[in-house]
Amino acid sequence: MAANMQIAIDGPASAGKSTVAKLVAKKLNYVYCDTGAMYRAVTFAALQRKVALDNDQALKEMLTDFDLKFVPADPEQLVLVNGQDITRQIRSTEVTNQVSLVSAQPSVRQEMTKRQQEIAASGAIVMDGRDIGTTVLPDAEVKIFLIASVHERAVRRYKENVKKGMATDLAVLEQEIKARDYKDSHREISPLTQAQDAVLVDTTSLNIDEVVEKILKIINQHEKY
Ligand code: CDP
Ligand code: CDP
Repeated sequence: MAANMQIAIDGPASAGKSTVAKLVAKKLNYVYCDTGAMYRAVTFAALQRKVALDNDQALKEMLTDFDLKFVPADPEQLVLVNGQDITRQIRSTEVTNQVSLVSAQPSVRQEMTKRQQEIAASGAIVMDGRDIGTTVLPDAEVKIFLIASVHERAVRRYKENVKKGMATDLAVLEQEIKARDYKDSHREISPLTQAQDAVLVDTTSLNIDEVVEKILKIINQHEKY
């Protein structure tokens, strides 16, 4: 396997991006970067510091005092902001429902894109998000666009919530996923869209291992050319 490849995995909410990106990175011994966690961390910090979520200038100022670190840990890496562990808080329903508003702000996108490109500059990487193949890493050697039906994605989130002991309603989850997809696909800057040179992988009827296998095959095929 060639060293220093960039692998971009984009797609809508709950398509399985972070789960499979993590496994692909582990298999290849590459660094993994969850860009969604970065936008979630900005959203959590804004809520905590009472910064208006649609105030681009105020968010820009907030980001001058925003030391974001990923710390490797088992079973999942920790997310620290200015030393505070916010790994669990960034997955709250409040953050999930507000993150698309924050991620549409120009200063936030500009700053996160810059930081993501800095992380990628250090070597081989698997990065997942919404605009990795189109904006953050336009020259990535392999680009995957992961999709699944809205119903299947809601079912996946539902099962995840049940496992965590969270009260949940499948119809509400389906609505929330649709709303977030709409906002992420219709914002002005770097909307969620498939890069022209990305390979579309529909995971609706595939389990995690099958998706990982498919992506590794695509990476291997790229190697041959
Ligand atoms: O895991 P899930 O699909 O719920 O979302 P995520 O990957 O954690 O991303 C959370 C939100 O961050 C998305 O709904 C987008 O609004 C934003 N995001 C983005 O705008 N650009 C990225 N590269 C990654 C995430
Ligand atoms: O990162 P993204 O929001 O795209 O999705 P995720 O958080 O990786 O996956 C959402 C849920 O779907 C997780 O509980 C995964 O275990 C599950 N999943 C699945 O059941 N089948 C797949 N092929 C991929 C993910």
